[in-house]
Amino acid sequence: MTSVLLGEGAQAAGEPAEPLAAFDRAIAADERIEPRDWMPDDYRSTLVRQMAQHAHSEIIGMQPEANWITRAPSLRRKAILMAKVQDEAGHGLYLYSAAETLGTSRDELLDKLHSGRQKYSSIFNYPTLTWADVGAIGWLVDGAAITNQVPLCRCSYGPYARAMIRICKEESFHQRQGFELLLALSRGTEAQHAMAQDAVDRWWWPSLMMFGPPDDESAHSARSMEWKIKRHSNDELRQRFVDICVPQAEALGLTLPDPELSWNESRGHWDFGPIDWEEFRQVLKGNGPCNEERLRRRREAHENGAWVRDAAAAYAAKNAAPGRGRVREQDLTETAVSA
Ligand SMILES: [Fe+2]
Ligand SMILES: [Fe+2]
Repeated sequence: MTSVLLGEGAQAAGEPAEPLAAFDRAIAADERIEPRDWMPDDYRSTLVRQMAQHAHSEIIGMQPEANWITRAPSLRRKAILMAKVQDEAGHGLYLYSAAETLGTSRDELLDKLHSGRQKYSSIFNYPTLTWADVGAIGWLVDGAAITNQVPLCRCSYGPYARAMIRICKEESFHQRQGFELLLALSRGTEAQHAMAQDAVDRWWWPSLMMFGPPDDESAHSARSMEWKIKRHSNDELRQRFVDICVPQAEALGLTLPDPELSWNESRGHWDFGPIDWEEFRQVLKGNGPCNEERLRRRREAHENGAWVRDAAAAYAAKNAAPGRGRVREQDLTETAVSA
């Protein structure tokens, strides 16, 4: 869309005569909106809110699983889990960077997370009680994330859509490692099988809540769909996820904790039981089992990382100084010292 809106010599400010009409046309034509394009204020603020919440979820989501890195049962499992947790940090970085293209800053967004003014996904307020939880998170939580995020690869905002392409590839690895971990446990000893089943029992319903409230209660959904930020409703995506999981649970030799699950021939989908939305609301309000701990640890990590940010800023300032690009006396001295 950039070519339509920018570079018009007659428009001194680089803004077209009818910015809203141009924006609407671009959305209707399924074109991408880019950072320098004109966009309605509400479109911008909706994106900032959604991308920030997404970025926060990625970095808070590192905590429940990082809890198990030192206790992974083998070197192979430890390497896989470390790679996954590092991926989540990377996802946070792509998304904060993408959000910055809308005129906000990472500092501002982190500040809102730390002060509780912006949310992260409620799922990360549940504890990881056993090793099997690592498998259940990969299979169900990352699986739900993929179901949500694959359509975001076609989101109307270019930087968000492009960030999602790589994120989805990595999420797919996360989902598979979780499935494979659960399969190993399910086929293991009786105690291992029971541990896998217990983890699935605890993570199933919170995973369904990850798709957000039902469509008729979802405040922002309709407009986000008009703007093609969202492509499918919460309930549609939730149903898609249930339909994917039922045969996978069977392959795992595990059951899903819902007595009302049954194939509905006329709908061509699996029916499922009612979700406890009161629990969802309580966790969102801060009353989940781990809300306090997650935020406290996030704030601590931020404070403990202050020296890294200072050092990075000092290094960047040094490299931006005049004389950069020539060999400077100071550099030679430093080289000599470190050699
Ligand atoms: Fe992620
Ligand atoms: Fe993930």
